[in-house]
Amino acid sequence: MKICTLGRTGLQVTQLGFGAMEIRGPRVWGGRPVTDAQAETILNTVLDAGITFIDTANDYGLSEERIGRFISRRRDEYYLATKCGCLLKDAGDHDETPHIWTHDNLLRGINESLARMKTDYVDVLQLHNPSVEQVEQNGLVEALKEIQASGKTRFIGISSTIPHIATFIKMGVFDTFQIPYSALDRAEEDNMTKAAMAESGTIIRGGIASGATSAEKQSGRRWAAWQKAKLDDLLNGMSRTEFILRFTLTHPHLHTTIVGTLNPAHLADNLKAAAEGPLPADIYAAAKRRLTEAGERPAPA
Ligand SMILES: NC(=O)c1ccc[n+]([C@@H]2O[C@H](COP(=O)([O-])OP(=O)(O)OC[C@H]3O[C@@H](n4cnc5c(N)ncnc54)[C@H](OP(=O)(O)O)[C@@H]3O)[C@@H](O)[C@H]2O)c1
Repeated sequence: MKICTLGRTGLQVTQLGFGAMEIRGPRVWGGRPVTDAQAETILNTVLDAGITFIDTANDYGLSEERIGRFISRRRDEYYLATKCGCLLKDAGDHDETPHIWTHDNLLRGINESLARMKTDYVDVLQLHNPSVEQVEQNGLVEALKEIQASGKTRFIGISSTIPHIATFIKMGVFDTFQIPYSALDRAEEDNMTKAAMAESGTIIRGGIASGATSAEKQSGRRWAAWQKAKLDDLLNGMSRTEFILRFTLTHPHLHTTIVGTLNPAHLADNLKAAAEGPLPADIYAAAKRRLTEAGERPAPA
């Protein structure tokens, strides 16, 4: 599998990473029920396949605890990224996930994350979708740097989107950016380039657009663009899911995409798609052109 340098962190990461939100369980955001056995299997299968980058967050339900329980003994096989600024709050039949943008909550978060994941450090600690105002008014970069100086994280990053991301890229302080992107969601296409040009690593979420396995998943505005662009004409034997993942992987400034799955067969499909590599140049150009004409295009700068 292709290995990329995660920007100025220098970390050598597999282009296909793993998003561990999928193992959070049902208490957060109506997640699917996930047994311990399922979580143990998928986490170990991910590592057995050679994937070296795992993303989670302090508010992803059981995710961090399961990483600690099932793969902390393999800690030297993966880079670990988590997020802070969030927390889990017991609300009876579910957990709520408020964000509290204080120095103390960042520190609370990383300490809890490390304890849950049974490790002394994470490789990347990311702010979990704050606004520019929240970062500036609460000294969050200073708090991240303090955590970095204590050795609890090697690098600092941020998960962000339009309209905040442009300012964060210009600030020049973040080693990585976590950004949503796929053929069905091209708004941040140019921001990936800008982040990489600023020597930050790019961690792409939504890179498989949740997969194209059911009619329900293939509905809504974004899939309307797929239909309008007649992308089925470009599949040439690929499944829609494979096409979407390879489209994402073809972006020249993608370093890793953290695809989530609970299903080892889907993981195998994704590994196969990643091994096939970028889309052929003519197909990629045609897909971008057709999507742009159908209204799915990068947001204006
Ligand atoms: N920073 C943030 O604010 C934020 C927000 C959301 C997510 N994230 C991160 O990004 C990661 C990715 O999450 P996402 O929401 O963007 O989802 P995604 O990776 O685009 O999609 C995950 C979904 O795709 C399905 N899937 C994966 N491979 C498939 C395949 N080969 N065929 C069919 N279906 C397939 C999975 O279902 P199966 O289990 O059935 O395969 C799962 O439901 C998360 O795990 C998390 O780490 C971050």
